[in-house]
Amino acid sequence: MHVLVDHPCVQHKLAIIRDVETGHKKFRELATEITQFICYEALKNIQVKEVEVRTPLALAKCHTIDTDLVVVPILRAGVGMLEGILELVPSARVGFVGLYRDEETKQPVTYYDRFPPQTVNGTCIVIDPMLATGGSTVVAIDMLKKQGASEIIVICIVTCPEGLAVVESAHPDVPVYAAAIDDYLDDDKYIVPGLGDAGDRLFGTSHAD
Ligand code: PRP
Ligand code: URA
Repeated sequence: MHVLVDHPCVQHKLAIIRDVETGHKKFRELATEITQFICYEALKNIQVKEVEVRTPLALAKCHTIDTDLVVVPILRAGVGMLEGILELVPSARVGFVGLYRDEETKQPVTYYDRFPPQTVNGTCIVIDPMLATGGSTVVAIDMLKKQGASEIIVICIVTCPEGLAVVESAHPDVPVYAAAIDDYLDDDKYIVPGLGDAGDRLFGTSHAD
């Protein structure tokens, strides 16, 4: 299952973050803002519990989040989305998956993982701005499931039909939320039109920036 968050406010920011002229400072700010919009939608059906709160006038029936949230950025580019989610749900815990895509094979190479114990019974939110071939996301979900996670959602900024199909086939129980489903992958497995190399653009490591 996947959900395209096509609200005009998100699409407006997406237009700016895609722009080759957008530098790393603005790129990071936009990644934070877009992530918050997508996360807002992705957590719409999260488990809540009823609580009573005393207002100055009476008792009010309210609802508070009733699950441990574990945000899991895929290093390195996923870190660019972390601040946005933690602003929205400050009590969330954070786990990490270290992966990079081998430049030749385009296959994900794992180099790090660290998860809080709440990964098992909580709701895990995998974040990575780019879901391209889907290989990195599939491996991150594999790692979480191996730890015992059962409630997992994925939030990305840009994806494409090929990558979505790979993730949905490997993990049909995991919904993917995105701000854009682009056209195709080029020969280097970059999303087109996409926004280029998200890690480089976030952290200012490209020559052009
Ligand atoms: C990028 C991106 C994803 C991955 C997507 O990371 O942030 O993790 O590629 O590709 P896939 O869907 O085809 O697996 P990259 O390998 O560039 O590493 P970085 O975040 O360290 O820059
Ligand atoms: N990684 C990126 O940063 N961008 C893409 O388009 C594909 C993989």
